[in-house]
Amino acid sequence: MFKDKHILVSRREFLRDSAWAAAAAAFATALQERLEAQQKKPATPQTKPAAQKPQQSAPQPARNLPPVNIGFIGTGTQGQTLLQRLVRIPGVRVVAVCDIYPPHLSRGLRMAGPQAKGYEDYRQLLERKDIDAVIIATPLSLHAPMTIDALQAGKHVFCEKTMAYSVEDARRMVQVSRETGKHLQIGHQRHYSPIYAHAREMMTEQEVIGKLVHVRAWWHRNNSWRRPVPDKKFEELLNWRLYRKYSQGLMAELASHQIDVVNWFTGATPVSVMGMGGIDYWKDGREVWDNVEVIYEYPDGVKVVYTSILSNQYDGYAEQFMGDKGTLLLTNEKDGFLFKEPTAEELGWEAHAKKTTGKGGSTGLVLDVTATKKKGTGAVIGGQKMAAGYELKDAYVLELESFVNDVVRNGQKPLCDAEVGFKTAVAVLMANKAIEEGTKVTFTPDMFQV
Ligand SMILES: NC(=O)c1ccc[n+]([C@@H]2O[C@H](COP(=O)([O-])OP(=O)(O)OC[C@H]3O[C@@H](n4cnc5c(N)ncnc54)[C@H](O)[C@@H]3O)[C@@H](O)[C@H]2O)c1
Repeated sequence: MFKDKHILVSRREFLRDSAWAAAAAAFATALQERLEAQQKKPATPQTKPAAQKPQQSAPQPARNLPPVNIGFIGTGTQGQTLLQRLVRIPGVRVVAVCDIYPPHLSRGLRMAGPQAKGYEDYRQLLERKDIDAVIIATPLSLHAPMTIDALQAGKHVFCEKTMAYSVEDARRMVQVSRETGKHLQIGHQRHYSPIYAHAREMMTEQEVIGKLVHVRAWWHRNNSWRRPVPDKKFEELLNWRLYRKYSQGLMAELASHQIDVVNWFTGATPVSVMGMGGIDYWKDGREVWDNVEVIYEYPDGVKVVYTSILSNQYDGYAEQFMGDKGTLLLTNEKDGFLFKEPTAEELGWEAHAKKTTGKGGSTGLVLDVTATKKKGTGAVIGGQKMAAGYELKDAYVLELESFVNDVVRNGQKPLCDAEVGFKTAVAVLMANKAIEEGTKVTFTPDMFQV
């Protein structure tokens, strides 16, 4: 375990107000240095990854199941979202919570329950032998060092997206997962969403949009992304997203979810990327762009046009797959629609489908996970029957259930595993490079391999 005194932030040190901001900066730097040192180590032979088995995401009764002890690192906004769902999964015991911001640590401990012990140094949490797995929901720059330490401490890891701050970090995470034989799941929850699984099947197996020719995806908001801070010394800790030291901006925070979907639905990775970005509206001292406009090229000439802005919310967020027979539109992570081209033949289930009105008064078919007819019968996605009696749960619940039941309990490879997270990370981080350098980045196959 790493023992650099600079990264030890004890309660006493923490409470020494004037020193804290410097300690936090040293913390980030030291972790980065440590990671770089780790990257220089020769890789040990890879263990064979476990075979992918069908996911059994349905919650199981706690009866007859050994408890799963979880340590939770980072109980800010997303940590609390996950923790709230995690504690309801049968058999889960959150026995340890770690955060360096006292209000978040207290909140996390309250949510976890009386059995949980609090930590300010995640390495002390990792020393506990009774912890089976850890969940990491800290700022991007900390994903790699914390994940690597956790895997090396013998824990399975669920780490929030984007997988890592740099391609090298992400590659090292994949390597360490293989070396240790411990699983690493990345928090791209759409992979666990029945709506997305259903839409993907419609597109790739039922071919409802014909030949894919173009993709648009966007995430538009009208807010600064800035959080109020109770004291200036917490500026970088609470507003880490705005600073390059910790953050890769909109591409990592928002686009990664959607580019992950494009990789998944197309079964491919990009061929090239170019783009623009700027700090053009929120000129408040931030270091990351408040708008990004990116074009990816995928195989067969498919272009993916992506935008994310923080100064107009009219379009909300969505992924739109356009084919020569129709358009598949997924909006706000919860609704799916199919708009057919005039030349498309009638689909068997279309007469029974719910309808919606789209652009210019066009009629769209609502993709209903519980009702849209399948070609075959008994279709199962994510361990759940798609066409009958399907209980819709949010994707955060499903990804956590899968982590606990499939990955930790049953030793299965995660659906959104380290390799999936790696490909997404490479795609979005290289878009930032293209924007930064004003060039077109061409991907070579080895860039997506570990
Ligand atoms: N999957 C999703 O839909 C989704 C949504 C939001 C955020 N996220 C991801 O979750 C992660 C966290 O985002 P957030 O919005 O919750 O940020 P946040 O700032 O609200 O929370 C991060 C927490 O980490 C804590 N932390 C920082 N350094 C630490 C350290 N050294 N040890 C322990 N704790 C430390 C902070 O005090 C804070 O409580 C990011 O990677 C983000 O991209 C994912």
